[in-house]
Amino acid sequence: MTHRILCVCLGNICRSPTAEAALRAELGGRATIDSAGTGNWHVGKPPYGPMQAAALTRGLDLSALRARQVRPADFQRFDLILAMDATNHADLAAMDPGGAARLAMYLEPLGGGDVPDPYYTRDFDGALDLVLRAARAWASRL
Ligand code: 4NP
Repeated sequence: MTHRILCVCLGNICRSPTAEAALRAELGGRATIDSAGTGNWHVGKPPYGPMQAAALTRGLDLSALRARQVRPADFQRFDLILAMDATNHADLAAMDPGGAARLAMYLEPLGGGDVPDPYYTRDFDGALDLVLRAARAWASRL
């Protein structure tokens, strides 16, 4: 089965594009993967420079990705929507029109919890560690 997975954070310029690239690297052709933000401030922009630089040191090239906002049709187009933190999860649950998608936390395979937002914490390497560990865990589960 080919999974259709959408990773969601607030701005779609730090955590969710990193998760998109990490899942793509782990799952390869077994999944179609995209990312989006609950907010619209950065629509059309590439991932945040310091996030791109940190990701590249782990072999993840984010440069071709562009931010977009979550839309109601995503709940039909994807079968798994992964929230990077509890606020993202609550915002997604509030806009879920009752589509096919299962809504879950991105860190669910590691026991749940939030990926702290490195846009504010400035801990890009710490966020990468979590994102990569969870991507490996999803790959062994899906
Ligand atoms: P992200 O981080 O949700 O991981 O992409 C953020 C980036 C920018 C903003 C918020 C979060 N912002 O408010 O501009």
